[in-house]
Amino acid sequence: MAIKKVGVVGCGLMGAGIAQVTAEAGYPVVIREVEQAFLDRGLGMIEKNWARAVEKGKLTAEARAKAAANLRGTLSLEDLRDCDLVIEAIIENIEEKKKLFAALDRICPPETILASNTSSLTVIEMAMATGRPDRVCGLHFFNPVPVMKLVEVVRTVRTSEGTFRTAYEFARSVGKEPVAAKDNSGFIVNLLLVPYLLDAIRAVEAGVASVEDIDKGMKLGCGHPMGPLTLLDFVGLDTTSYIANIMFEEYREKRYAPPPLLRKMVQAGFFGKKSGRGFYDYSGPEPKVADLGL
Ligand code: 3HC
Repeated sequence: MAIKKVGVVGCGLMGAGIAQVTAEAGYPVVIREVEQAFLDRGLGMIEKNWARAVEKGKLTAEARAKAAANLRGTLSLEDLRDCDLVIEAIIENIEEKKKLFAALDRICPPETILASNTSSLTVIEMAMATGRPDRVCGLHFFNPVPVMKLVEVVRTVRTSEGTFRTAYEFARSVGKEPVAAKDNSGFIVNLLLVPYLLDAIRAVEAGVASVEDIDKGMKLGCGHPMGPLTLLDFVGLDTTSYIANIMFEEYREKRYAPPPLLRKMVQAGFFGKKSGRGFYDYSGPEPKVADLGL
């Protein structure tokens, strides 16, 4: 099946990134948010990325104008009715996602593929909220979407071969490297990444080393672009906590259990970079290790 028009639901960090790369690849994209302020913020992020890319000579002014013309924001889900592929990137909450998939199933033609960008929920639950589970799959992008090359293409037990192939080729067509994953919570990357990030928090709790030295250790010792505590601030401590709770519910294994320090930081409103404070304090010109009260 040829994808001609793409819908994205959710204009947060992930949704905006997905809409950006899809519009750049030449697809008409409609991105939907629930509130004008959220839509404006997401579209503003995309505009900023494009302006920076033009400044750096990575994108021509003409290509930017073409990409911008491909992108349209909306507050109405009905505006996604003529999309061949809709990618959901809303909050990591199964009830909200099931409601959305059921609504998309009513609005979109039966051949439209519905995909979820979930990081930790199983896609089958969303698929079964629709009357077309064979046309539902996962398309899991990574943050920051314009930079990270990977997309996990997730096949449930009900996903048809045609849907999987189309989704896989779509990921390629937007300049990403797809990998095939089964519908297990966390797929490939988060299955391995989440316990690692939680272990880094446990190392802080246990006083193994300072926040800076744990980060430095993994950057210089393993060649990671960011240490785990910087990465936690980058992904968001609230998001990590959501994901860890979902994976813990699924597997009932200690390695996915959110450590008390993570829970306390989220309760305190320290969500990482986006809230100005997490393991680091971002209020100054350079991030500084925050007081964790340990
Ligand atoms: N949007 C667009 N472009 C961005 C960007 C963003 N948010 N952040 C950085 N970039 C671009 C920069 O403009 C720069 O482009 P250039 O090479 O053309 O100049 C390039 O990326 C490198 O950026 P910087 O020089 O500013 O900084 P770094 O070299 O440190 O790279 C990074 C930044 C790409 C974020 C790098 O630190 C990195 O790869 N970090 C790890 C990210 C990671 O692990 N992501 C996965 C998170 S897990 C996930 O998403 C799964 C989910 O389910 C939780």
